[in-house]
Amino acid sequence: MRYEVVITCALNGKYNRAPIGVYFKDNWVKLHLYEGSHTYDILKKENYFVVNITSPYLLAQSVYDDKGNYSTIEYSDIALPYLSDAYKIYVVKIVKRKFVDIKDEYGDSKLMVIQGRILLERDINSPPVTPYSRADGLIVEMAVLYSRLNIVNEEKRVEMVKRMEEYFKIIKKVGDERYIRLGEKFLKSKNPTTP
Ligand SMILES: Cc1cc2nc3c(=O)[nH]c(=O)nc-3n(C[C@H](O)[C@H](O)[C@H](O)COP(=O)(O)O)c2cc1C
Repeated sequence: MRYEVVITCALNGKYNRAPIGVYFKDNWVKLHLYEGSHTYDILKKENYFVVNITSPYLLAQSVYDDKGNYSTIEYSDIALPYLSDAYKIYVVKIVKRKFVDIKDEYGDSKLMVIQGRILLERDINSPPVTPYSRADGLIVEMAVLYSRLNIVNEEKRVEMVKRMEEYFKIIKKVGDERYIRLGEKFLKSKNPTTP
């Protein structure tokens, strides 16, 4: 099973957050990073990062910018950022990086496959017991499409925006103000790298 989490990391004192898919096995994690993101650039150099287990809304929001509420956790003498609203965090040390070229529905890309060992695990906030809302799944799907908009060709982009509009129609029916505002931001932003 692949899980969606927020990876937080830092370079030269600047904090970064990004939703990323992660595989867990015992005390190991594995992630595939596409070249071109800040997370990719940072984790090419830095050996530590934090896996944040968050609400679907915070997961989706984290793709939009890096302006989260951060706290820091110390491991040995390193201070690492994490999201203050996370439910749970894992401090991870990278033990292996592999670089591969891939071809998928988004075109040709370079991937960095990271294998990391969990060094520390901490509960941060108790997750609220709330009923499932379709807005949760849909806002995350909108975030995934949004994050790919600037790496696809025009034809694919038009098709993806159409899908985002369909998801947004449902969000407007089932979501609250926060979800609607975030969905609007995803749709309005024509170039995801300059929101
Ligand atoms: C739910 C979700 C899962 C994602 N999973 C990945 C992933 O596994 N690998 C990846 O490179 N990008 C993934 N992305 C895209 C990155 O989050 C996106 O490129 C982001 O803008 C990177 O932020 P950064 O430049 O601050 O690192 C995912 C996006 C979402 C919304």
